Amino acid sequence: MIKAFLFDLDGVIVDTAIYHYQAWKQMANDLGFDISEEFNEQLKGVSRMESLDIILKYGGIKLSEAEKLSLATKKNENYLTLVSKMSPADILPGVSDFFVQVRKEKIKTALGSVSKNAKLILERIGMLDDFNIIIDGNKIAKGKPDPEVFLKGAEELGVSPKECLVFEDAVAGVEAAKVGGMKAIGIGKKEVLTKADFVVENLVGLNIDELLKQIA
Ligand code: BG6
Ligand code: MG
Repeated sequence: MIKAFLFDLDGVIVDTAIYHYQAWKQMANDLGFDISEEFNEQLKGVSRMESLDIILKYGGIKLSEAEKLSLATKKNENYLTLVSKMSPADILPGVSDFFVQVRKEKIKTALGSVSKNAKLILERIGMLDDFNIIIDGNKIAKGKPDPEVFLKGAEELGVSPKECLVFEDAVAGVEAAKVGGMKAIGIGKKEVLTKADFVVENLVGLNIDELLKQIA
């Protein structure tokens, strides 16, 4: 029986995924190459430094640790400029209504994001109090697809992995949920999120009872 919902942040609750992409694209362009949206799929859910390594490898660029740290810091500054104007209006369609149902059904909630900016984003969109537990990039050692972020969420909520349902837009995030022994709802395209138990385009009109029947 599902007792808890674990939500990814970027691309599930709020569309920061586009800002991460824009900031990385800017960095790649400054280094003399480009990254496509398709390429960007593999960066979703992946930590800042791991994303940087993937991009630099793709661009055929080798840098020292100090240079990499400086690039990651600059990317984060650009990202923070892009998200600084965010407000509750940026919450993705269907999310607020879905959380009304979640509260009504008394389902436990955790945020499971590898982003170190997660709390700041939640504050900006006014959703900090919507989660019983927040596990973010500052609390974990390994990024998705490692299940650490979700397993920690389950542990802090006092539920077993089997009792958790994860909401994820990233291939790495769905993988993390499945490796952790949890069910996963993919938010996005079926062709991309092939390992998810069920895929929806977004949370618009999603009914919890029907959803739970789909994955039973
Ligand atoms: C994830 C995003 O939520 O957080 C990734 O999907 C991002 O694209 C990662 O790299 C780390 O985020 P941040 O905010 O700590 O750089
Ligand atoms: Mg995401």
